Amino acid sequence: MKEMINIALPKGRLGEKVYDMLERAGYGCPSIKENNRKLIFEDEKNGVRYFWVKPSDVTIYVEHGAADVGVVGKDILLEYSPDVYELLDLKLGKCRMAVAGYKGANKNSDRTLRVATKFPNIAGRYFDSLSREINIIKLNGSIELAPILGMSDVIVDIVETGTTLRENNLSVLEEIVDISARFISNKASFRFKNAAIEKMCERLTEELGSKDANK
Ligand code: PRP
Repeated sequence: MKEMINIALPKGRLGEKVYDMLERAGYGCPSIKENNRKLIFEDEKNGVRYFWVKPSDVTIYVEHGAADVGVVGKDILLEYSPDVYELLDLKLGKCRMAVAGYKGANKNSDRTLRVATKFPNIAGRYFDSLSREINIIKLNGSIELAPILGMSDVIVDIVETGTTLRENNLSVLEEIVDISARFISNKASFRFKNAAIEKMCERLTEELGSKDANK
């Protein structure tokens, strides 16, 4: 029987783009496009089994080996440092991690800066590197509300188009790091299914190359 590669895809728009890229690379699984509530899709001919998972859970499936490979934002890798191999930058889902707030909100360095974020480790490391004292307020979403309500001075968050900030009169104050989707692998799978995973990397790299060529 053909060896199957289990692939964890992040639910949502990014996951769909990633699937399209995998399909172009030769890992199609037509049943995935059917509009139903199924969570697992298999294509024996192409040797792939896909799962849709919550984006922030992709690394958990891959770390546990329930998925051999997966696709996750660099933000999640930087925040949680999961024990996986990062194999490729898929150049999709590009955005930035930034400090944002009302203009000048980051300037007064005499007092502890109040930082609201979903990414306490990234924020902590960044302000440590500047030797800046901060208090972190951990939130799970709608981070932009914190400075508007006066709960924090700034936020550390993902900025993609900048629309959310603009519509709330906030701006990027400092850039921390560029983010994009990464192809990751479980460490044991990388050893035991090496040929198949390497092949997948090669085909994805070719796909990335042809995309660059079409720019
Ligand atoms: C993310 C992020 C910003 C927004 C940035 O939120 O936290 O709020 O997208 O995108 P933009 O620059 O294109 O406006 P998400 O939609 O994931 O929701 P959340 O508020 O639940 O984090």
